[in-house]
Amino acid sequence: MRAVDLIQKKRDGQELTSNEIKWLVEGYVAGTVPDYQMSAFAMAVYFKGMATREISDLTMNMVKTGQEFDLSAINGIKVDKHSTGGVGDKVTLILAPLVASFGVPVAKMSGRGLGHTGGTLDKLEAIKGYQVERSQDDFIKQVQDIGVSVIGQSNQLVKADKLLYALRDVTATVDTIPLIASSVMSKKIAAGADAILLDVTVGEGAFMKTVEEARELAQTMVDLGKAVGRKTVAVITDMSQPLGRAIGNRLEILEALEILQGQGRQDITHFICELAQIMLGLADIEKTVEEIRKHLENGQALAKFEEMVVAQGGDLEDLYRPVNVAHVVDIPAQESGVISALPAMEFGLFAMRLGAGRAVKSDDLDYETGIVFEKKVGDSVQKGEIVAKVYTNGKISSELVTEFQKYVKMNDRVQCLREIIEIIS
Ligand code: URA
Repeated sequence: MRAVDLIQKKRDGQELTSNEIKWLVEGYVAGTVPDYQMSAFAMAVYFKGMATREISDLTMNMVKTGQEFDLSAINGIKVDKHSTGGVGDKVTLILAPLVASFGVPVAKMSGRGLGHTGGTLDKLEAIKGYQVERSQDDFIKQVQDIGVSVIGQSNQLVKADKLLYALRDVTATVDTIPLIASSVMSKKIAAGADAILLDVTVGEGAFMKTVEEARELAQTMVDLGKAVGRKTVAVITDMSQPLGRAIGNRLEILEALEILQGQGRQDITHFICELAQIMLGLADIEKTVEEIRKHLENGQALAKFEEMVVAQGGDLEDLYRPVNVAHVVDIPAQESGVISALPAMEFGLFAMRLGAGRAVKSDDLDYETGIVFEKKVGDSVQKGEIVAKVYTNGKISSELVTEFQKYVKMNDRVQCLREIIEIIS
C-alpha cells in the first residue's frame, strides 16, 4: 500500500477499507507514514468526511496504538466523563467527587488547556503538591480506596492521538467530526471505564458552532461507545458564555470549592447536579437533582474532593488560600440594562493573555491570574456597577478595562441560557 493512494482516495470522496485504515494508523505511529502525508490525509477528511464504518475503524485502530487500562479490579460500574472543551469549565472538579460521594467509582484521566480553553489538569496543579502523574496501579488503588481519582492522561495511552492531535493543531484540521470523535473515543475506550458521559460543547467558545453539528458529533461518539459495549450518553451544552463565574486555574479551584460547599451560582450548581444524575444513572443509581444537591449542601462531596486532593499529595491549607496577584481590576458596566452576551472565546483568550492559559504547548502558566464575573448573561446591571474583576500580575492600564468592556454585549437579543441543550443516548 502507498499513503499517497489512500490520500487520493479520500480526497476524491471515496471510502477507505478497514485494512487501509489499519495500515495508515499503524504506519503513522511506526513513522513509515510521515507527518506531511498524514496532514494531507487529515485535510482530505476535513473536506470529504468519513463514513460511520470508517470512523469506527479509525477509532479502534487508534485504541490499539497504546496501552488499554484494565479497571476490572475496581468493584462497581466505573464511570468516566469527557468534555470537548470550554472556557471556565471546572465541572470535573465538582462532578467527580460528587458522583463518587454516592459510592460510584470515578477513574478519570484529564488533559491540559490550550489556546482559549482551559484544562482540568492545570486547575488541579494550581493546588500546591497535587500530583497528576500516577502509575496505573496507584490510580486503581486510589479509586479502590476512596472512590475517585483524577490524573493526567497516561503517555502510554493512544499514541496515535498524541501524534495526530499535535499535527491537527498546526494544520487547521482539529474541527472536523470524524477526527474529533475518533480522538475523544479512542482515549475514552482505552481508559477502560464501563460508562461514559460526553459533554459536547456548542457555541462561540467551542469547536462545534451550531447545535446541528454538535448533535452529529454527539451521536457519532455515542454510537462508537455503544458499539464496543460501553454505556454512553452525550449532553449538548452551551459554551457561548464562560461556564460559572471564574476563568483561571486557582480562581476556578476556589469557585469549585464554593459549589462543593453548596454556595455556588444556581445555574452552574443545577447543571452539575443534572450531569451527576446522568452519570449516576449510567451506574444504575436513580437520584433526583434535589437528592444530589444535598451532597453539596451537607459537605459529602466536598469531603470526597478533599480526600482526593490529600491522596494525590495536595496541600489542604493551600487549597483554601485566596488568590495571590499584584492587582485586582474592577470592570464597570458602560451602560445600564441587561447583559446579552459574554463571548466565551474572547474571554478565554483574554484570560490566556493574563497568563492563565497557553498560546503554545510549551508556555508556562500563571496559576493565580484570571477573571471573575460578578454578572452573567441575562443579569441586569446599572451603569458603573461591577461586571467582573480581572486578577493580574501584569501592568494595569486603561486599555485593559476598555478591551474587556468591548466584549461585554448589552441590551441585544439574549443568547442561550440553558446549560444542557439536548441529551443524546
Ligand atoms: N478533544 C479531544 O480530545 N480531541 C479532539 O479532537 C477535540 C477535543
